[in-house]
Amino acid sequence: MHPKIALIARVGAHKTFEALGLKPEKTEVFPTPYGDSRPIHFFRHQGLEFALLSRHGEAGYDLSAPFLNPRANLYALKSLGIQKILAWVAPGSLREEMAPGDLVVPHDILDEGRGGPHTFFPNVGWGFIRHNPVFCPELRSALISTLQGVPFKVHSQGVYVATIGPRLETAAEIRKLRLLGGDLVGQTLVPEVFLARELEFCYAALTYVVNYAEGLVDRPYQPGVLFEGLATPEEMAQVAAVEQAFPNLLTKVLTALAAAPRACPCPRLLERYRLRGDIGEDWRTWVR
Ligand code: HPA
Repeated sequence: MHPKIALIARVGAHKTFEALGLKPEKTEVFPTPYGDSRPIHFFRHQGLEFALLSRHGEAGYDLSAPFLNPRANLYALKSLGIQKILAWVAPGSLREEMAPGDLVVPHDILDEGRGGPHTFFPNVGWGFIRHNPVFCPELRSALISTLQGVPFKVHSQGVYVATIGPRLETAAEIRKLRLLGGDLVGQTLVPEVFLARELEFCYAALTYVVNYAEGLVDRPYQPGVLFEGLATPEEMAQVAAVEQAFPNLLTKVLTALAAAPRACPCPRLLERYRLRGDIGEDWRTWVR
């Protein structure tokens, strides 16, 4: 099997596809110069082949965001011949109109965490690449079209603010991030998206809001429950309904994204450096 598209998901996502009767044909961990990748599962479904990797763990939430190894995961996906990546993430909302359970296809990023490692290219002269648009425009538009008609509210734009965890933000930090123009806040898309661009992947994100960010709405502190009371049981039920719909939705979305022609700039993000002779055709020789 030679999938060209991968889904980078949260926790134990291979199990969510069991609801559709889908079982991985194989699962492998790939050693890379950056350490081992997370296990990569290979699926086949009605003519679609895709790879699936869960960032945070296979059975539970084993690794918090700052300790993920996106370089190893992306290196492994690139070695497999993957060209397109859909990132599936669950951020908080900075806007009253983006409610828990809503789907958001972000169009831009504010990196307020500056967590690393943020590049494959230390100590060389390449990598000064434009980040507007930061997400693949082709994948974004295929994603937005495919989401038309889903029984959830879909926002076709959003600025994702990256913070560094594992802690959540203070209320004052959230007020600042709103003033900066952020719509969503999360800890996983960065530096993954920046690293993916360095390897010329097409990369887009499908997010679903899991909570209003701190201080946006009045929520008493409740020790011992998820998010310590940041989300109400009703909101968590709304989120669970979206999660239930995801396996079906994702296979549709992945099928549409797999068909996108790659006429976007993504396969040539480093073209300037190729033409200049700084890098050759073999991407393995670019990375350090
Ligand atoms: N802040 C940061 N990351 C998050 C949040 C949040 O409120 N919700 C989900 N991931």
